[in-house]
Amino acid sequence: MAVTDGMIVKPMPKSGMTFDAIKEHLGQLEMPDPHAHFARAFRGPKDVQEVGKYAFERFMSDNGFFSLYMPYMQIIEQEVIAMGVSLMHPQEKSTGNFTSGGTESNFSALHAAKNWARGHKPHIKTPNIVAPYTIHPSFQKAARYLDIEVITTDLDAKGLGVAANIAAAVNDDTIMIAASAPSWAYAKIDPIPEIAAVAVDAGLWMHVDACVGGYISPFLEKLGEKITPWDFRVPGVMSISADLHKFGYCQKPASTIFWRDVALQDYHYVALDDPFLGPYKLAGFSGSRSAGPIFAAWAVFNYLGEKGYLRLAQQLLDLKEKLTNGVNSIEGLRMWDVDVMPLHFNSEKAPTSAVYQGLLEKGWMMLGLVSPEAITICADAAFSDEDADLFLTDLRDVTETILARGDAQEGGIRYG
Ligand SMILES: Cc1ncc(COP(=O)(O)O)c(C=O)c1O
Repeated sequence: MAVTDGMIVKPMPKSGMTFDAIKEHLGQLEMPDPHAHFARAFRGPKDVQEVGKYAFERFMSDNGFFSLYMPYMQIIEQEVIAMGVSLMHPQEKSTGNFTSGGTESNFSALHAAKNWARGHKPHIKTPNIVAPYTIHPSFQKAARYLDIEVITTDLDAKGLGVAANIAAAVNDDTIMIAASAPSWAYAKIDPIPEIAAVAVDAGLWMHVDACVGGYISPFLEKLGEKITPWDFRVPGVMSISADLHKFGYCQKPASTIFWRDVALQDYHYVALDDPFLGPYKLAGFSGSRSAGPIFAAWAVFNYLGEKGYLRLAQQLLDLKEKLTNGVNSIEGLRMWDVDVMPLHFNSEKAPTSAVYQGLLEKGWMMLGLVSPEAITICADAAFSDEDADLFLTDLRDVTETILARGDAQEGGIRYG
C-alpha cells in the first residue's frame, strides 16, 4: 500500500490471498472489547447477538429488493413491522416500512411529507420544516437531498423543545413539524403532545424521531418510569422513526418508519413503470439490499419477546444508576439528567475535551458533544458491570491525572 497526497494507492492483487491470511490481517485490525464497545453500540447480550447473527448469516445473500413480492420475505418483513408498530399505540390501520437506519427513516418521513404537501398545500414552492434546535443532523442531511429548509427553534432551560417557539416559527411554507423522543444531544423527550397540538392546529405533518427511544421507552414505561407520551396515542402524530439497531438490539443496518395510517404510506412509495423493466416499486430508498437484517430483526424480536425486552430495560436502568453514581463520584464530573439514553457527562474542573482525549488515549472509543461540551456513554445491554467498573476506573485515573498535572491537552470532541 502506498499513500499519495493522502490517498491510498493499491492495485488489485494479481492473485488472491489465502483465507487464513485474510483472517489474520482482519484479526489485527479488529478493535478489542470493551474499549471499542461504544463504537459497536448498540448490542444485546451475547445470546441475543448469537440469535440475530444466525438469522443474518442464513439470509444475508437473499435480496431484500423483493420484500414486497416474495412471500417468504414479505411475511417476515411485515411481521417485524407489525410487532414494531404494536409498541407504538397503533391506530386501526397503522403500519410501517423497514429501512437501513435512522437516517433513512427520517429521510422517508421528509420525503412522504413533501409528497403529501404537494396535494394538501399546493401553493408551497419552497417547503420548510420546523423543529427544536436539538433535531438530529440526519434531518438537515435529508432536507438537503430533498431541497427543504429546516427552521430550528430555541429550547427551554432543560434542553426541551418549546411548543410556543415552534408555533411562532411556522410560516406559509411549512409542511412538517418534527421533534425527538429523545434527542441525542440532551437525551430528553420533547413535549410531543403540546408540539403535536401545534401541528394539528396548523394542519401540518407531525413526525416524531424516536430512533433512540422507539424500542426502549415503551418498556421503560411498562416498568413504571415516567415517560412523556410521544407515539400514535398522541393526536396528530403522523409518522415515527424507531431504530431496530439501537435499543431493538438488532443487527445493523435496521430501522423502522411507521405511518399513523396506511393511507400515509402511499406518500412514501415511488412507483414507476420502467419502459424496459416494467413495474418498479420497492419498500424504500434502497434497491438491492441484504435480507439479513430483516431476518435478524424477526429472530431477535421473537427470541426476546416482551418479557425479554422488559428484562433488558431493567438491566439498563440498573447500569445507568451505576454509571451515574460512578461518574458523579469523580472530582468535577457531572452526569446529565437524561430521560432515556444515551448518557452524557461533562467536567467542571478539568476541561471536558481533555478528559475525552485522555479516554481516547486509554483506548476507549468515545463519542461526544461539542456545544456544550460533553462525553457520551452509549451504554447498552452488552455493557457488563465489569466493563462499567473498568471504564469508571480509567475515567477516574484520566481525570485525576489531568487535575494533578494542571496542563490539560484539549482535544477535538467528535460525535461522528
Ligand atoms: C435521535 C436520532 N435520530 C436519528 C439518528 C440517525 O440514526 P442512524 O445513525 O441509524 O442513521 C440518530 C443516531 O444516533 C439519533 O440519535
